Amino acid sequence: PAGAPDKALAKKITKVGVIGAGLMASQFALLFVRRLQVPVVITDLDQARVDKGVAYIHDEIAALEGKGRITQDEANRLQALVTGTTDKSDFADCDWVIEAVFEELGVKQDVFVEIEKHIAPDAILATNTSSLSVEKIGAKLAHPERLVGFHFFNPVAVMPLIEVVNAPQTNEVTLSTAMVVAAKLRKNAVITSDSPGFVVNRVLAKLLGEAMHAVDTGTPFEVVDHALDSFGLPMTPFELLELVGLKVGAHVLDTHHAAFPDRFFESENLHKLAEYGKILERDVKGKIKGFDKGAVKIV
Ligand code: 3HC
Repeated sequence: PAGAPDKALAKKITKVGVIGAGLMASQFALLFVRRLQVPVVITDLDQARVDKGVAYIHDEIAALEGKGRITQDEANRLQALVTGTTDKSDFADCDWVIEAVFEELGVKQDVFVEIEKHIAPDAILATNTSSLSVEKIGAKLAHPERLVGFHFFNPVAVMPLIEVVNAPQTNEVTLSTAMVVAAKLRKNAVITSDSPGFVVNRVLAKLLGEAMHAVDTGTPFEVVDHALDSFGLPMTPFELLELVGLKVGAHVLDTHHAAFPDRFFESENLHKLAEYGKILERDVKGKIKGFDKGAVKIV
């Protein structure tokens, strides 16, 4: 990838659009409103999902106020800046639109084709894809040069990194805007090339894939978990898989296996666990109690 783009080229962002109101999208929508202090509009497939996302952000803003990190006035102001909609025409005046919808190429392509009908031709588009090709995601756009990868890590509020993915068609204004936005979000941004898993998920796919493979080949969950916990990782692979979502985790492994079959494992068991919905058993507060009995039976 090119060196640092010229910051002077960056577009000023006055309104942010977020497509997807799931946990990842809601977490970064919160960060956008807090750090950019501009209106943030969120959409999803139906009103119930939109409402859930907006409610999450409002609750998190209230929690920041509760912890004394922001004043009541600021909390009220930030909450008022966040709106939900199922009408894409509400995105018309957004100059930055970012998506975190289902990790499937066709779904992401369709989402961008649809949103492009409603926005200005020079509005910037960003995808939070975990490991898909940004070039392919933008392949059906009229203006693919305004699409960039903008990859957050879970939990968004805590993890310092954003990978800014410089796809072959991404132009300098887009790249520059992404770097300036990342800095405003107070994250460390790195520019990566548009290759499977970029940098971090490529490394994590190795870790998670090998941990699943150890289970698939007969070492019990508990042993793999205990070994890697005692080794000193901040989170064990199974905790991490639940944090990112088992379906996302399985998808990341599949993408890497498809791109580099001799270097990455895919795991049938991980797909079964993703269908089942969990690996770990937790108490009502979310504290881990051990491995879920059903999950242990699957393997
Ligand atoms: N959401 C929001 N904030 C959280 C949080 C969460 N889920 N979990 C922890 N925090 C906050 C806490 O509130 C606390 O904030 P404070 O200091 O302001 O009160 C701070 O983080 C530290 O909390 P803890 O003392 O509980 O921290 P831990 O020492 O347990 O560390 C962790 C928590 C930072 C999440 C650590 O376990 C960690 O680094 N885990 C690995 C996470 C990781 O690798 N993420 C990348 C996943 S890959 C990905 O997302 C990419 C995707 O494409 C698949």
